[in-house]
Parts: sequence; structure tokens; C-alpha cells
Amino acid sequence: MTDKRPWLVIGQGAIGSLMAVKLAAIDVPVQLKLRSENDVIDDEQLIRLGSQSLRLATVDKLTTPSWIFAAVKAYQVAPLIRELRTSKAYEASTLIVSYNGMLRDETTLMRGSDLHWVTTHGAYRDADKIVHAGHGQSWLGPQQSGQNAPHEVMEQLARALPPLTWEDDIARRRWQKLAVNCLINPFTVLHKCRNGEILQHVTPELWRQVAYEIQVLAQYHGIELAVATLLQQAEHVVQATANNRSSMLQDYSQRRPTEIDYLNGFIASASAEAGLSAPANQQLWQQVAALTGDLGPR
Ligand code: PAF
Repeated sequence: MTDKRPWLVIGQGAIGSLMAVKLAAIDVPVQLKLRSENDVIDDEQLIRLGSQSLRLATVDKLTTPSWIFAAVKAYQVAPLIRELRTSKAYEASTLIVSYNGMLRDETTLMRGSDLHWVTTHGAYRDADKIVHAGHGQSWLGPQQSGQNAPHEVMEQLARALPPLTWEDDIARRRWQKLAVNCLINPFTVLHKCRNGEILQHVTPELWRQVAYEIQVLAQYHGIELAVATLLQQAEHVVQATANNRSSMLQDYSQRRPTEIDYLNGFIASASAEAGLSAPANQQLWQQVAALTGDLGPR
């Protein structure tokens, strides 16, 4: 029997909106959580995806045990979890999070059974419309490995936005994604360019050094990555998304905080804490932060 508990989708960005529409399309109950500090909360919100338009119910807090799908900025994760914890329904809810980068305090912030969703689907907002620009694939896995795959969550997410693979060791995939973001995003801001143009600006030595520092830190955390593979993966993403403006460039252009503290900033600060040096990531962190006014991990 299908569990009819509702999905609570958090994050009004392109990926959150895409997932909300896709879940609604498989006929499971979906609500959107808006920010509780909003003065006026409408009962419904309209999402346009391609030629489809859909009105979804909105709530301002978690009140009933739910599958929570949060596609948010890295700096929103800690405040969100602190807010969710104030609801009694949180204990019986499953949290699925998706964000770029890493947080220094993930192990205290998250429960072992909370899930990370990593995707290569690409979506962006064009005025009031969501565009599903690139069909990719996704992986779901627990904060702490060694958990059973939650059948209903897997089944519903896989039906909504396939293909989806269960990955008990999701940390490795998150490190790979972290590396791709560290190798692309800061350069798009520093050179004000699209993804496809960064290799005209970055020397192979600098790119390799950024990847090397990530590999060393990952190894310190028990994750084996190869520099050559990280560079190949990043180059593949550069080519596949050549015409895209990275999320960091979009944040910078729209004067929103960037995720630099959780990308190259995470590598630099976590390396320093481990007694490792990461000068290339440290420099990129400082250069982007100087441009954007980001102040360090919140
Ligand atoms: O952050 C982004 O923009 C994306 O994750 C990526 C992979 C760099 C493509 O633009």
C-alpha cells in the first residue's frame, strides 16, 4: 500500500519547483513551505514548468509527519533544520536535502537517517517559468551510511524524476560534486563568464592544484578520489553546461550571498583545521569573498 504522507517541498528555486511539479504529477500530496517570516502567505502558489501550470498548496510550517524535500542554498540548511526541529512532526518526518557544498557541522545538524539527494538534472528560472534544461540522473543516500533504503521515498522520487539510484556511500558522490563546483563556480564569478569559457582563463596548474587540495582533504576524511578523474568530471560538466551561467555567478549578479564559504571556503577551512594546506582554494575563497562581501561560514 502506498504511504500517502504529504511531501513538503522547501526551496522556491528551480530544482525545488521542478521537484514539486514532478511529484504532483505522480499524484502524491504536495505542499510548498514558504518562509515563515513572509508577512502574507497565499494559500496556493502557481508554478509554471514549460507549458504546464500548477497551483500547489502552501504552508508556513511543518505540522504533520511528511517527506520533506529541501533544495536550498548551503547557508539556509542550518537555520532550516533549527526551525524544523521546533515542530513535533519533525521526529516522524524524513528529511531529504540537496545543496551545493559541505557544511562543517553536518554531523551535529543532521540525523543519521536524513538523506542527501545529489543530481545532475539542470533547471533554471526564466522570468516566472521553470525550465528543465538538462535531463540528468540523481542519487539518494543517508547522512550516515549503513541505513536501509526508505522504500516509499525511493519509489516516489524515482517515479517523479527518474532515474534515481540508492547510494549508501553518498558522501563520495557529494565530494565529487563539491570538486566540480569548486573547479567551476568561483572562476565564473572572477572572470564574469559562462561555464564554457572558464578554461580560457584558468591555467591547468591552478585547476590541478585546486583538485589536488580537495583530493588530499577527502583522503583525510577517508574518501579516495583521483585528481585526474576530478578534472575529467569538471571538464565534462564545463562542456555539457557550456552556455550556463553558474549558480554562483547568478547569485553574484543578483547580489545574493554566494555559496563560496561552503565550496572553496569549506576546503580551505576544513584543511586548516586538519593541519593541511590548501592555498589555491584559500585564495579563491578570499578573491570571491572580496568581490561579493561574503563574510565567512555562518
Ligand atoms: O552550481 C552550478 O551552477 C552547477 O552545479 C554547475 C555544475 C557548476 C553547472 O552550472
